Amino acid sequence: MVFIKRLVIEGKHELSGKIKIGGAKNSVVALIPAAILAEDEAVIYNVPAISDVKNLEEITKYLGSDISYQNETIKINNKNCQNKEIKNEFSNKLRASYYYMGALLTKYKYVEISFPGGCNIGSRPIDFHLKGFKKMGAEITQEGDKYIIKAKKLHGAEIFLDVASVGATVNIMLAAIKAEGVTSIYNAAMEPEIVNVAAFLNSMGAKVKGAGTSEIKIEGVSKLGNGIVEVIPDRIEAGTYLMIGSLLGKNLVIEGIIKEHLESVLTKLHEAGANFEIKGTKIIVNKSKKLKPVNVRTLVYPGFPTDLGQPMSTLLTQCEGESLFEETIYENRMRHIKHLNSMGADIKLFDKKAIIKGKTALTGREVIATDLRAGAAMLVAGMIAEGTTIITNIEHILRGYENIVGKLSSVGAVIKIDEVSS
Ligand code: EPU
Repeated sequence: MVFIKRLVIEGKHELSGKIKIGGAKNSVVALIPAAILAEDEAVIYNVPAISDVKNLEEITKYLGSDISYQNETIKINNKNCQNKEIKNEFSNKLRASYYYMGALLTKYKYVEISFPGGCNIGSRPIDFHLKGFKKMGAEITQEGDKYIIKAKKLHGAEIFLDVASVGATVNIMLAAIKAEGVTSIYNAAMEPEIVNVAAFLNSMGAKVKGAGTSEIKIEGVSKLGNGIVEVIPDRIEAGTYLMIGSLLGKNLVIEGIIKEHLESVLTKLHEAGANFEIKGTKIIVNKSKKLKPVNVRTLVYPGFPTDLGQPMSTLLTQCEGESLFEETIYENRMRHIKHLNSMGADIKLFDKKAIIKGKTALTGREVIATDLRAGAAMLVAGMIAEGTTIITNIEHILRGYENIVGKLSSVGAVIKIDEVSS
């Protein structure tokens, strides 16, 4: 018999108390592969308990490094690390498995790895990563879905990214840190997660400059030492809870944020009339009496993050009037809309644009988390809906949101995970 996990939410409960934000998924998923570059040991603090971390732990173990994960801290010892093929069964569990390309290329000059997995939100090619490796002297062959990447020697290069890709920026940094000479990445992604990875690499003795700007320069070094880093707070988790708090909060405190990382989200929520106050690293949020319609267009950082577009679209169903929501990064991040409509939303979809008419009452239904952030959108919907919402395919949500049931229950939500036979 096959059991499926479901998230069961009874809607409309007021939320008060404190939610502590965990370490950023999109940082830690790069930091763990990067850790195999440390000469002996690496320590990563503030690691969130999410399934993407578990899957990367498995890959690290498979490669032979020792890894322990306790008290939000990962310790890795690379003494017994070996170069091995990363087969589909490992790589397809998550997108970030592609960071082993850059890391293993630097460490061993030879990589065999299958195409990465991750959310089905568009075609998600990795051509910029591969072009970058080639410019640094690597040769790449493809056998089915497996890439073989090898280099006699890696050298510095001038690399211009067509799109400011997070993955390509990190992977090129990883491949460049021991290359001979200087590598420049132009139109680099500027996300805070990139700065976090660069800080980790620099703690090992790498020379990465300009992370957080659109031009990154990496001067290759001949040797790396041990690494240490603290994962930055997850701005996407914080943004999701901020949206939920704007709809249901009563002095709900969201703790451990970096305000600067959330600027575009805070600005948009403020424009919509959300009721929150920032005190240092805390946000205190209360339900708004009335939310106004706003137009939201996702963009690369520092624009409105694509990873918060979907939960934001649920909030827009509660704004009084017509809002426009546009996704510009991925082709396929609108699959949640039909589920929102099934709960009572009034959303018309035109490819990657949606016109959302509010305010509409939502009613609990059985819906699907078609991808991670679609799951977050359904979670926000379930929290404000009349009656019970059941979300299936929640493996997606658990990949990216730490202890979601525990965190929300502790502030008054009525939410649980159950398992039923299919
Ligand atoms: N792109 C290409 N070629 C490439 C690389 C990217 O065409 O070689 C395109 C993509 O198809 C996409 C755009 O460029 O249209 C941006 O993609 P990017 O490379 O920035 O995304 P990513 O690195 O695959 C990371 C996060 C995503 C997040 C984006 C944007 C990880 C593991 N994933 O993806 O996170 O949406 O950056 O911020 O860090 C999520 O958390 O739900 C998630 C999908």
